[in-house]
Amino acid sequence: MTPQWDRPGSRTGSEQAMNTVAIVPAAGRGERLGFGVPKALVPVRGSALLAHAVRGLLTAGCVRHVVVAAPPAEVESTAKLLADAGLPADVVPGGADRTDSVRRALRHALTAVPDARVVLVHDAARAFTPPQVIQAVVDAVLAGAPAVIPVLPMADTVKQVDAAGVVLATPDRAALRIVQTPQGFDAATLTRAYAAAGDSATDDAGLVEKLGVPVATVPGHPYAMKVTTPFDLAIAEAVLSAVEVS
Ligand code: CTP
Ligand code: MG
Repeated sequence: MTPQWDRPGSRTGSEQAMNTVAIVPAAGRGERLGFGVPKALVPVRGSALLAHAVRGLLTAGCVRHVVVAAPPAEVESTAKLLADAGLPADVVPGGADRTDSVRRALRHALTAVPDARVVLVHDAARAFTPPQVIQAVVDAVLAGAPAVIPVLPMADTVKQVDAAGVVLATPDRAALRIVQTPQGFDAATLTRAYAAAGDSATDDAGLVEKLGVPVATVPGHPYAMKVTTPFDLAIAEAVLSAVEVS
């Protein structure tokens, strides 16, 4: 049976926009990309990755307020970059790891918008997530799911290996998913998850799982790929040209 949060268009855009805040952790150093500047500030076809990510959230039509966590030394320049691009967002100093950056931005977001019902946690590095994915995540939370993640099926076979790289098992690929962002949460659930969290977690939904709260999935999109390496940046350039001509 199709879960109720898989049904599209269950809420109007204005109802969503009243309720939803988005957090964009952008305080990483981008070491694997190797540009010598924070990854969020690396330009793709003339605009910083972060500007693409924030524009995507604001134009999806379901986000009321955006809070960005920037490297502490780059807070002012990041705020200026966004303002110059006509993208309203609050910029706060990020922390030592992604979890800390999200925690700081979440605190700010729920102070700025105390009646927020839905919190989206995105990544500056997934700057080209299509608006339909953002809307589907928000819709699913408003339809009653406490936590929602966009996912894709695995294209490759996956092996579990030991410390020496010897194969231990071949998990059933049909039951595995690749996880993307934005991840969406009922505001109270995410607050509870972060209150219970230790120092560091790989993803926000993982913190909610630890509470024993179910995490729902909606279809993700290949364009929501994460820019991590120079190869990914080349793919992102191609994605953006495809979006611009479509
Ligand atoms: N991030 C953050 N604060 C940190 C570390 C990461 O806000 N202290 C953000 C990044 O800016 C990015 C997202 O979390 O948008 C995902 O992290 P990742 O892809 O690892 O980005 P970087 O940490 O910048 O890259 P690297 O690990 O290669 O240095
Ligand atoms: Mg990192």
